[in-house]
Parts: sequence; structure tokens; C-alpha cells
Amino acid sequence: MVLTQVRHALDPLSEDEIVAAMRILRETKGLPERHRIAQVALQEPPKADVLAGNDTDREAFILIIDRDQGLTYEAVVSITSGNVRSWKELRGVQPPITFEEFAECEQACINDPDFRAAVAKRGITDMSLLMVDPWSAGAYEDSEGRRLSRALTWVRSSPDDNGYAHPLEGLLTLVDLHAGKVVKIEDHGVVPVPQSDGNYIPKYVGKLRDDIKPISITQPEGPSWVIDGNHVSWQKWKMRVGFTPREGLVLHQVSYTDGGRDRPVLYRASVAEMVVPYGDPSPTHRRKNAFDVGEYNIGLLANSLELGCDCLGLIHYFDATLADTRGNPYTLRNAICLHEEDFGMGWKHTDFRTEEVAVRRSRRLVVSFVSTVGNYEYGFFWYFYQDGSIEHEVKMTGIVSTGALMPGETRKYGQRLTPDGLYAPIHQHYFNFRLDLDIDGVDNSIYEIHAETEPAGPENPLHNAFYSKATLLTTEQEAQQHVDPMRGRIWKIVNNGVKNWVDEPVGYRLVPGTNVGALVGDTSSVYKRAGFMTKHVWVTPYAEDERFPAGDYPNQHEGGAGLPEWTAANRSIEDTDIVLWYSLGSHHPVRLEDWPVMPVQRVGFMLQPMGFFDRSPAIDVPPEPSHCH
Ligand code: NI
Repeated sequence: MVLTQVRHALDPLSEDEIVAAMRILRETKGLPERHRIAQVALQEPPKADVLAGNDTDREAFILIIDRDQGLTYEAVVSITSGNVRSWKELRGVQPPITFEEFAECEQACINDPDFRAAVAKRGITDMSLLMVDPWSAGAYEDSEGRRLSRALTWVRSSPDDNGYAHPLEGLLTLVDLHAGKVVKIEDHGVVPVPQSDGNYIPKYVGKLRDDIKPISITQPEGPSWVIDGNHVSWQKWKMRVGFTPREGLVLHQVSYTDGGRDRPVLYRASVAEMVVPYGDPSPTHRRKNAFDVGEYNIGLLANSLELGCDCLGLIHYFDATLADTRGNPYTLRNAICLHEEDFGMGWKHTDFRTEEVAVRRSRRLVVSFVSTVGNYEYGFFWYFYQDGSIEHEVKMTGIVSTGALMPGETRKYGQRLTPDGLYAPIHQHYFNFRLDLDIDGVDNSIYEIHAETEPAGPENPLHNAFYSKATLLTTEQEAQQHVDPMRGRIWKIVNNGVKNWVDEPVGYRLVPGTNVGALVGDTSSVYKRAGFMTKHVWVTPYAEDERFPAGDYPNQHEGGAGLPEWTAANRSIEDTDIVLWYSLGSHHPVRLEDWPVMPVQRVGFMLQPMGFFDRSPAIDVPPEPSHCH
């Protein structure tokens, strides 16, 4: 095997490597006739080998669906050695729904006479204007091994109309995606299709505002980063940028240079899962709970940012190399955007006696991607700051999932959006971030810290005392916790083997932003399937195969997999390599203002140094060279 290009062990597979891996797989195994390649991704080498700088094989993880037998195969192919290192047959699992199946599901419905009859009952005869979205089926019926989607239907009024304004309420179509056939139609009765338009493209919007003057971001001396392949250096930060079909953007080996030393912070970070449970018990909406990572592959659904203006200023784009369902590689141009932003004031002090003003601007490095999952858009933004902080922000936008009410009807579980019955059910968006932190090395421990009021007493005569109380979390079950904003709860990850200048272990803290509890009932299907959302914080000892908090294959899975299953063992998480899983929920009672395209809503969290440095690492940021001084 000749792949002379020098690549880092964590670089995503190249087009050549995907071609080579598929050839080795086909030659060695002979794939089933009606198969589909559900995923081709880098099989990441063992962490210990990467950290030790050992030579490792370049390997591909390939997921194969046999559409006739309804079986799934996992293969690991060594591109370096030219052989299939492992081959596993899986029964009763369903890989994520492929983009190809979006169109096939729609066609299967349109081909079905009973579906057409149900649509005709709603006054629709032009099938070309229908939009059938392949919602994941969940685990609400015995699938008998079938690969299912519970499809929902909308209709456009013209080819470029926003069809989500016109839902066919009450019509649910269970589709066998392998057979390309409708299994069952549930028709809960005709609700008139709302006719008000929900268009947002300029030709429909009418007069656009005309009082906006241009803003130009110029960086006349170029950017402050140095990029070498997938390796990024910016200010004192270093990292590797990766991309997987399932998670999209992945950050590897994030470190901060301090006193000439590269100090590790994160080994790997990604959005490992997300779920959107809907809160309306009506027949059309009560089984809606899409897992956009594990059921739809947000990486494969990532936008090519070439066409848009998603970032301003000087931009470095990373392409993503992916494989289609035949296993052929293709390039998703400009999948990841990297740019710098001025971020206002970084720090400031005025010495009122000398009138000396010290002010520094904050600069941040932004690494982001955007994914379109049916009606919704999710932007995932990592920010790196000069003070050693890392922030993640999710930007939620796109079009809310809609339904229709009878004329004049109001609904406890949703918000009316138009007078003629369009409404949007209440729901939540739950993300889970897998943060493999390595604070100055792999062996870390974690503390829960919150503020406590000291009881009044001789040592606290005015009863003013309060303090930070830190509790070491020693096992997985102790570490399953919730945010507590009233007491400012944070979690601090420390390395007991490295001390700062006040002789405390160096650490980083997770600072939650707004967060919410899961509101579906604890006997509901999605509560079991998305167990990760039932606690905000989980900590596990590092295990190579524990990557996805709702399990490897959440599609149609009955639940219990992933974090709840692993942590039942209640393993020790003290002075060992630990992974922090942060579940971040956003409550979405829909507003009229979220229609027709929701203005960006933000949720996120921070990772901040806490005793990692001996003093502010941003003190050496120079003043602006201009009129400020
Ligand atoms: Ni929402």
C-alpha cells in the first residue's frame, strides 16, 4: 500500500484512503448484493499510541447495511496492512437514516395508493408539491427487524414555497426503508391544511430594510494563525481539527503553550449526541424525538459554507472527506470555518490616582460548522480565548416543526403561529458533549464545587460567611449531577500530579450556561432512549469504545444504552483518565417570532482555567497600537 503522504494519526481519511479501504473490504469480504455503506470514517488509533507518538496503522471503520437480510456489519480495515482487521455481524440494530433514504421514503409514500388517498382527502392532488420527511420511528412498535421511518407530510403551494407552513396533521406513514414500501398509514382525521404562507426568501418577503451600511472586517496583515494540514496554532493555543460523518467537527489534542511548554487541556471534544423530545401527546407529535447525531449523522448533513456568509473576515475553510452509500469518497467543500473575531473588552483597569488606563481587547478563534437536519439548523461553535478559556455555543435556527389545529382551536402543548391553524408543539433540544479532558496529562480527578452559607456562630458572628465547598467525586454514580445556578455549581477537573504556585493541583472548570431539566415523563420511551439527558453531568473512566452517550445505534433502539449502561458498573473516576459528558438542554416553547425562520437561539458552556495558570494568562496581551494610548 503506497500512501506516501505524511499524515497525522488523527487526520480524517483522505479520498485515496477511502478508495483503498473499500477496495480491501470488497476484495476480502465480497459485500452482499443489495448493500449500502452507512459510514466510512477513520478508526482512531489507541489513545496511548497517539500520546506516545507510536507508529500506528491507518484504519477505516466501515458500516455496511445488507438491505435484503436487514443485517448490519461493522468492519475495521487496515489500509496500511491491506487487510480486514475485524468483521462483525450485528442483529437488531439500525444505523442512522441516510440522506438517500430521505428521497426514497418520500417516493415510497407517493407511490402508495392508500397514502395518495389520504392526501387527496385533504384536498391535495399534485403529488410533486408534497414534502415527506423521514422522522425516525423510535421504539414504539415491534419492528420485526424492519428499518422503519414514521414519516410526516407537508405540502408546498408552489415549488419554492416553504412547505412547513402547510402540515398534513393527523397523517403518519410508517415506511419500511429497506423494502421502499409503506407498512402502515395512520390517519387520525382530516384537519384543514393551514394556507397562510411562511416564506422567507426576498421575492416573497416584500420590501427589505434599506438603512444598513456595510461593515467590513479587514485583517491587512493576515490572520494570526498558522495552519499545517489539520493542525492549527493560534496565539498560545494548538489543536488538531477533525471531522467525522456522525459528529461533524471533532477537536483533538487541544493544548495551551505556557512558559514554552505545551500543556494539554483536551484530548478530544465533540457533540456526541442530541435529541429533540416533543411535548405534545397528540397522535401526530407524541412519538417525535429525533436523535440528530445517532439517527441522522450531523456530519454527513453538514453545510458547505462556500455559498453562504456564515463567517466574516479572513477565513480558513477545512473540507470534509466523506463517503457516499456506495463507499465512494467525495469532498464536502468548506465544511468547517475557522476565523478570528474581535470580542470586545478583554480586561481593563483605570488607576484613578495616576489616570493610567490599561485596556486590552479580547480576540477569539472560532472553529465552527453548521448542519441541516430536515427543518432545523444547528451551528456548533467552539471559541478559544486568550485567557485560556474555551467556550462552546450552539446556535439553533431553521424552521420549527409544525402541525395544524382545527379552526379556532388552541392547544396547551403548542403555540398557534397563524390564525388559520398552523401551530408548533413545545419541545426541547438536548445536546451531549463528550469532553475527553487531559489536564496537564491523562490522570485527572473531578470535584463538584458550589457555594455554601456558613452557620452563624462564634467564628461567624455577623453571619456573613460563605465559602466554596468542593467535593471529590470518586465514582461514576457520584458524578451524575445537575446544574444548580442558585449555588453557582461548577465542576473542576484537576491533575493531582501537577501543582500551581500555591501548591494546589492544576485544574479547569466546567461552567454551565443556562440549562434545563428533561421534562418527558420517566416512564416514556424517550426518557429511556436518551438516558444521557436525565443528568447534566456524567463522568466515566476513559474507554476507547465508549463514544456515544445513547449507545452506538440509537435508531429504533428501545433504550438503556450508553451512559446509563456503562455507569451501572460505578467505576472509579479518581486519578485516572476521565471523560466528562455534559448534557445541555434548551427548552423551546415556540414563539410567534420563531416563525417562519427562527432567529438564532444560543446555548452553551465554558471550560475555564481554574488554578491551571499562576495568574491571568491574558496579562501579556499587548495594548492596541492605535489612538487608545
Ligand atoms: Ni426548537
